[in-house]
Amino acid sequence: MKKNVVVLGTQWGDEGKGKIVDLLTDKADAVVRFQGGHNAGHTLIINGHKTVLHLVPSGILREGVDCYIGNGVVVAPNALLEEIKQLETAGVDVKSRLKISRAAPVIMPYHIILDQQREIAKGGKAIGTTGRGIGPAYEDKVARRGIRFGDLFEPERLKEKLSETLSYHNFVIEHYFNQSPLDFDEVYAQALNYGEQLKMTSADVTADLHNLQEQGKSILLEGAQGSLLDIDHGTYPFVTSSNTTAGAASTGTGLGVTDINYVLGITKAYTTRVGSGPFPTELFDDDGTMLAKNGVEFGATTGRPRRCGWLDLVALKRAIQMNGVTGICVTKLDVLDTFEQIKVCTAYKVGDKEFNHFPASAEAWENIQPVYECLEGWMSQTKGMTDIAKLPPQAQKLIDKIENYTGCPVHMISTGPDRNENIVIHNPFV
Ligand code: GDP
Ligand code: IMO
Ligand code: MG
Repeated sequence: MKKNVVVLGTQWGDEGKGKIVDLLTDKADAVVRFQGGHNAGHTLIINGHKTVLHLVPSGILREGVDCYIGNGVVVAPNALLEEIKQLETAGVDVKSRLKISRAAPVIMPYHIILDQQREIAKGGKAIGTTGRGIGPAYEDKVARRGIRFGDLFEPERLKEKLSETLSYHNFVIEHYFNQSPLDFDEVYAQALNYGEQLKMTSADVTADLHNLQEQGKSILLEGAQGSLLDIDHGTYPFVTSSNTTAGAASTGTGLGVTDINYVLGITKAYTTRVGSGPFPTELFDDDGTMLAKNGVEFGATTGRPRRCGWLDLVALKRAIQMNGVTGICVTKLDVLDTFEQIKVCTAYKVGDKEFNHFPASAEAWENIQPVYECLEGWMSQTKGMTDIAKLPPQAQKLIDKIENYTGCPVHMISTGPDRNENIVIHNPFV
């Protein structure tokens, strides 16, 4: 039966989305990215061989699966070309299988300068962005002065748009940040050159996806970042600049909300965060060090060490609600194999006041302390496990706790980074 499934992160990113998208695409005909850009880093490990994807959808390693980049994604042409080159060198045919929406905003060189200069100017209050121009590119889209992917193939249109936009940004670069302005001729020539190299990927992605639907094909919609990094619903201002929640799967592709049959919420068995911002369950002790070590918690995009902490059920429940999650996939369960005791946060506390709702503003996050429930660890190997019947009872208790607290069933458990290390309780496509 045809099904369209959204796979997205329920925390602050790096939950293991890429691995699960790759796994599930054996049942999908197409995979589409719907938001974010190359700030994402999605790791796929197949028989020990590692591939990290940033813009190319995580279905690319499954032959016969079409890959799309929807209008909601900000596209950096140079980064994309580099990623395509690396994949093609490794023998993966990308250019004939990748289609990019002509409506997708393009990340231009001035976006990167603005992103980085703003972070420098913020000093100790920096967001810790990936420095890849994501925020400024989305700003230009909303300000209606952005260059879109389709503009790269129309020299006259591009010239007109770029001259306006570049003079606007050059003013800020030169007079606010005291940096050298960019040369119009260089930026223009470079953009045309990228357009030339990527022209064959240009498409009306919305039309293509609806054609697939009419043919009874199944589509997987691949989220990037995580729900708590959502521009509206996340820990603002320490967020990314796109909507990372399920609604973006529709707005970022042109599929209707009623075309989506299932939302899979990827949830690490603990929590990590890269960059600044609130993180009530963050650990600074030996447990935190062990999570980072066992989980190899370094950013797939920037290589930065990820901050680590216990699973936050208060935040998870909010993410489940915001996304209308159908089923949860708990990842990295094996990382907890060596813990005698495992904690989960079931409420927040400020002073003596306990509550279990998600704070409304960034300011309200200050001074929040987690209230923990302690669970017994299993101290045995779940790594590589594929059979739910073999799961240690203590691990099953953690899964039960997640289900009971959030009211959402756990449909999958990931027990290692490799494609085949999973317990599939219910396949979203079946
Ligand atoms: P994404 O951004 O959500 O796709 O996640 P990343 O690829 O940035 O980070 C997840 C990391 O955890 C990667 O290094 C994966 O290879 C690894 N990983 C994914 N699932 C598991 C798992 O179940 N167990 C372990 N140990 N590692 C996993
Ligand atoms: P995946 O898809 C984790 C974080 C950055 C920073 C904030 C804003 O791999 O899960 P940006 O460059 O987007 O303006 O940075 O968002 N961030 C991520 N953290 N995983 C990601 O993607 C992220 N993409 C952005 O670290 O805190
Ligand atoms: Mg990642």
